[in-house]
Amino acid sequence: MSAAEPVDLTVADLHPALGDPALTSMNFLNEVSERYPAAVSLAAGRPYEEFFDLAAVHRHLDTFHRHLVDDLGHRPEQARRLLLQYGRTKGIVHHLIARNLAVDEGITVDPEELVVTVGCQEAMFLVLRALRAGPADVLLAVAPTYVGLTGAARLVDLPVWPVAGGSAGVDLADLAAQVHRARAAGLRPRACYLMPDFANPSGVSIDTAHRQRLLDLAAQEDLLLLEDNPYGLFHSDDGPRPPTLKALDTGRRVVYLGSFAKTVLPGARVGYVVADQRVVGPGGRVGPLADQLAMIKSMVTVNTSPIAQAVIGGRLLEHGCSLVAANTRERSAYTRNLRHLVAGLARRFPALPDQPDLPDRPAVRWTVPAGGFFVVVTVPFPVDDALLDRSGRDYGVLWTPMAHFYDDTAPVHALRLSVSAVTPEQIDVGLDRLAALITDEVARRVG
Ligand SMILES: Cc1ncc(COP(=O)(O)O)c(C=O)c1O
Repeated sequence: MSAAEPVDLTVADLHPALGDPALTSMNFLNEVSERYPAAVSLAAGRPYEEFFDLAAVHRHLDTFHRHLVDDLGHRPEQARRLLLQYGRTKGIVHHLIARNLAVDEGITVDPEELVVTVGCQEAMFLVLRALRAGPADVLLAVAPTYVGLTGAARLVDLPVWPVAGGSAGVDLADLAAQVHRARAAGLRPRACYLMPDFANPSGVSIDTAHRQRLLDLAAQEDLLLLEDNPYGLFHSDDGPRPPTLKALDTGRRVVYLGSFAKTVLPGARVGYVVADQRVVGPGGRVGPLADQLAMIKSMVTVNTSPIAQAVIGGRLLEHGCSLVAANTRERSAYTRNLRHLVAGLARRFPALPDQPDLPDRPAVRWTVPAGGFFVVVTVPFPVDDALLDRSGRDYGVLWTPMAHFYDDTAPVHALRLSVSAVTPEQIDVGLDRLAALITDEVARRVG
């Protein structure tokens, strides 16, 4: 081969995760949206864009800057450096996040046990990278699960074992069985990943008593729990929210993953992880798992943009560090949309969700979540990417095939609808189109 000849690589020569459905899934779904820009998208789990406010971003930055000078006593050049220079790997708004967790969630955390990350996605990657010590390690995850978790696990060569979710949010008998099965096979289950509040994609939440039983089981089995909570604030009733697993955690069993994408701004790309587990290092020195995660972070993203952190910090400061207070408008819009979607499904598919299948009219069922962004619709035919493409092209409506959230290739008869990025009017149009698709598809298969 001459020096001038171009070098072609094949995917087979690269990391095995590349080309894996878990990694290509998000790109595929984005590509479909781009292919059919005029379609109503009930697919995107993005926050509602009409609430975005550029002027507020400048104000948040100023608010945080003033906090550095007025509250923390930084000299002007110190404050400028903190915002514009390379910075502390674990972040510069950790004290405000710790305060937010205390105010909104009743979680007491030492800010030193927290790492501010480039979105929750980086937090998941850091945790999985740290936990994957060798080829015997496996991760358990409640299925269906967030595809970003599966993709991150692939990148660190950590197999993901599904655990049944069911209507309780996690099937504890199955969790115990999977732990025992893994151990019997000489494997080491490092943790179980789950979303106790309005899970993506299932919308299911775990009640308080079941959370306590889960923590008891984790203690009994000596298992870590990875709690991911991007949607917990968006509950649609006015009662109290159940406590997070982390708030109930008295044994440092829970690694808590946080995201500001839905509660402040996705474009800031800021999330965090609370990792208070004790790690014994060389010479018996003990420090929080957060320090080990920071070591990995220093080799991945160095530090999270301090400018982006300052925007988040400013928004927190402007609301007494309460994201509950900062998101009253958002919560009511998402609640309104969720109710509108569920009522719209009931109108278009008048058979009750729990009605048995009839030979001439198989039932369409859907979940009725108590909050969050997502509703799962079960239909009497398999739902795949080809159907999504046809839905975008011929019916002008997009949604997400539930198959993307399972780590196998078995056909899945369900799709996920999201209410976060649309208006009630768009929901109406989208549901009319979805109903037409489902009716045609059932007729095609019956006929
Ligand atoms: C369950 C879950 N975890 C994590 C993320 C990623 O969060 P971030 O945008 O902060 O990386 C998402 C985004 O949709 C999500 O649904």
